[in-house]
Amino acid sequence: MSQEHHHTHVTRGAHAAHVPAPNARAAYDAAYASAQPAPGGRVVVAELEAREMDWEFVPGRKTRAWGYNGQVPGPVLEAKVGDVLEVRLTNSLSEPTTIHWHGLRLPAAMDGTENVQHPIQPGETFTYRFLLRDAGTFWYHPHSNETVQLERGLYGALLVRGRDEPTLDVERVLVLDDVALDRHGQIKPLGGWIENHDGRQGSTLLVNGRATPELKVAAGQMERWRLVNAASARYIRLSIGGRPFTLLGTDGGLITAPVLMTEVLLAPADRVDIAVGPFAEGEAVVVQTLAYDRKTVARPKTLDVATVSVGAAEPSRARIPERLRHIEPLVTGATMPTREVHLGFKYSLKRGANFTINKELHHHDQPVRVGELQVWDVVNETMMDHPFHLHGFFFQVLDVNGESPAFLSWEDTVNIPPKGRVRIAWMPDDRPGEWMYHCHILEHHAGGMMAHFHVVS
Ligand code: C2O
Ligand code: CU
Ligand code: CU
Repeated sequence: MSQEHHHTHVTRGAHAAHVPAPNARAAYDAAYASAQPAPGGRVVVAELEAREMDWEFVPGRKTRAWGYNGQVPGPVLEAKVGDVLEVRLTNSLSEPTTIHWHGLRLPAAMDGTENVQHPIQPGETFTYRFLLRDAGTFWYHPHSNETVQLERGLYGALLVRGRDEPTLDVERVLVLDDVALDRHGQIKPLGGWIENHDGRQGSTLLVNGRATPELKVAAGQMERWRLVNAASARYIRLSIGGRPFTLLGTDGGLITAPVLMTEVLLAPADRVDIAVGPFAEGEAVVVQTLAYDRKTVARPKTLDVATVSVGAAEPSRARIPERLRHIEPLVTGATMPTREVHLGFKYSLKRGANFTINKELHHHDQPVRVGELQVWDVVNETMMDHPFHLHGFFFQVLDVNGESPAFLSWEDTVNIPPKGRVRIAWMPDDRPGEWMYHCHILEHHAGGMMAHFHVVS
């Protein structure tokens, strides 16, 4: 049968009508029952309610927004490796929703896509329950009508703490986003060919749901910042007034050794953990996203994100070890790709901007087998950047345009530069089921740049 026969997505940009497999319920029940805490772990229970509310993205100005538990971002969920997280989500929106646990290695049935579960209808409650296997900064967001639901404020951070974490004086979770507000302070409706092409970029930059906040830090201290880029399409090229900071971790937790830098690029969905400071009393340092040219129609700009204002000195007990973690390379030496994934673009008068994988909208890719090393070349045939995201499994970046990366890390999202080729390696562990990968520019994902595939045992 040709791939075309699988196609259910006819209208571009429309909410894709996915149908979970007939055995989805049994897979869910099995996943639910198997989610038991590791020795010493516990079950962390959280209640989330998705609903519409007023939110002041800009202080003093009410905007109709959507949030979890009446806030943007939703509550920070926190637990330890070995704990089970159980989240009861009540949908008080007027449309269906789900939650995807971005970056987590969980059973396919708990992944929150519309391929593994029925979307949660208005008024319904659905329970996610899974073991937390890895430490890191993760996040959660709907996997239904994403361009609208995330833009309006449905997203939140999930921290999983490990046993050996570096000691910093203060920890902050900074979830970054942008919104496009109209003259009345309301979120602009999506649409138009520029947004279909570039993705939605708003000119109001947000940190934890507020425009350009002030971050008060104590002089002499070092802080751990856990940053999440929750924006639909904006790349955050983060600079802290040009001061050096230390990279501690990325998508999949700590890297092997700290890396000193003065700027870091967060593509949509990327996370970084950094150590910042110390600052001197009385300083005011502007945190910015520097202009990053990802070849959009809109010209790139430098924008302020927040201000660090430094108060009186406090003692510091910060200690960053020279080695943070051991990571075993999945591949040593030369290797051949086992698969190529081609990111493409085609424009038609009838359908506007279409984003493709291997020339198809909403591609159905070949299955992969549990235990068989995957080496994928993700090839960008377009003239713009795309953040490639794989659900459910971490990968290692082997090279970007033939150059090995500066450090070894676990990732779930990697930027693929224009006309670039990025080689990644990942191992399908024993979590069979239906998975996906896609561009995390939400408009590109909705416009077809995504693929479904099965992990089979
Ligand atoms: Cu944040 Cu399908 O992903
Ligand atoms: Cu699809
Ligand atoms: Cu894209």
